[in-house]
Amino acid sequence: MNILVTGGAGYIGSHVTLSLLDKGYNVIVLDNFSNSSPKVMNRIKKISEKTLKVIQGDILDSALLATTFKEHSIDAVFHFAGLKSVAESTNQPGRYYQTNVTGTLNLCQAMITARVFNLVFSSSATVYGEKHHMPLRECYETGTATNPYGRSKYIAETILKDLAAATPQLKIAVLRYFNPIGAHPSGLIGENPSGIPNNLLPYIGKVATGQLPELCVHGSDYPTIDGTGVRDYIHVMDLAYGHVKALEALSDRSGVSIWNLGTGKGYSVLEMIEAFEKSSGCTIPFKFGSRRDGDIPASWADISKIQSELQWEPRFSLDQMMSDTWRWLTNNPWGYEQ
Ligand code: NAD
Ligand code: UD1
Repeated sequence: MNILVTGGAGYIGSHVTLSLLDKGYNVIVLDNFSNSSPKVMNRIKKISEKTLKVIQGDILDSALLATTFKEHSIDAVFHFAGLKSVAESTNQPGRYYQTNVTGTLNLCQAMITARVFNLVFSSSATVYGEKHHMPLRECYETGTATNPYGRSKYIAETILKDLAAATPQLKIAVLRYFNPIGAHPSGLIGENPSGIPNNLLPYIGKVATGQLPELCVHGSDYPTIDGTGVRDYIHVMDLAYGHVKALEALSDRSGVSIWNLGTGKGYSVLEMIEAFEKSSGCTIPFKFGSRRDGDIPASWADISKIQSELQWEPRFSLDQMMSDTWRWLTNNPWGYEQ
């Protein structure tokens, strides 16, 4: 079975590509490397001892997509290519809607023309917005995201539902990620943020490796266990395994199936610092700052739907998430550029 992975050089796409190769699928990666390094491909080949085809290109290039589908007999598409910074999306909304919405639509139209009907789509827990009680369930209302990034994911989900209603052959898995962290246990691939990271674990990593002086904990007066924000962190390899399970389930389904991908358990920022310090042996200097715009006090998933429908379970503990992150960071303090 041949699978096209858009954004396959990125953080999540690279780990899913490995899981697909491991399961015996043939993978074709399409990536413009705007937020990743081509060097990740050699690492994937090294770990998997398998080959894969890599196409450097853009999901906004409809002609390239048409040629890609024509030249390869593709059975399913995993769509990771996109932009993901909340702060950047507020300053550059047009660019975010173009890549995340128009790019997704281009891809779907090229798929339908080529009669490729299986799609696994990267969505985000951000589509749930702020107003729900925890844990978040797939049936909860969406569409109240507070920033263009979140709205681009909501709009893309809506487009997928409309396309599936009009094209009954489509089988689409929408996976709503909570907070992916960690790295492949080999220490050869991991998250490689450019510039100053926005997300917690990449920021802690830069402090631990001496590239940033201290962490600012955004808010200490939330109604949570210790006043700091609570999130549902999931190991990227558990996330990858969830994608493989979703693909396998599509053959018996039609239309759009939505699954949360989290662990169902929340940890506070202070608990995350403590867990990282325990695994790494480093001390993470931090100060308390004000709340970050757009942040919610707590977010964690109800994972009963994916557990019962896909027989998927998270397998990695928080300690493993931290030790795999630390292995990746110590082996590659400058990411792939060393
Ligand atoms: P990433 O930036 O590491 O990977 C995205 C990849 O897509 C990169 O390799 C980039 O070069 C490529 N890309 C970007 N625009 C492209 C384009 N126009 N054409 C072709 N390739 C393009 O991000 P990630 O963390 O791996 O996220 C993957 C997907 O998951 C994204 O859609 C993101 O919004 C979604 N997501 C991520 C998180 C998270 O915490 N990482 C959470 C929820 C959802
Ligand atoms: C953020 C995005 C969300 C996106 C998700 C994954 C915002 C408002 N939300 O979510 O849309 O889907 O990333 O990409 O940006 N924290 C600190 N100090 C830091 C960084 C983070 O204290 O330097 C805290 C945050 O306040 C939060 C927790 O750590 O309580 C996790 O933050 P982060 O990793 O950015 O993830 P989310 O806030 O869940």
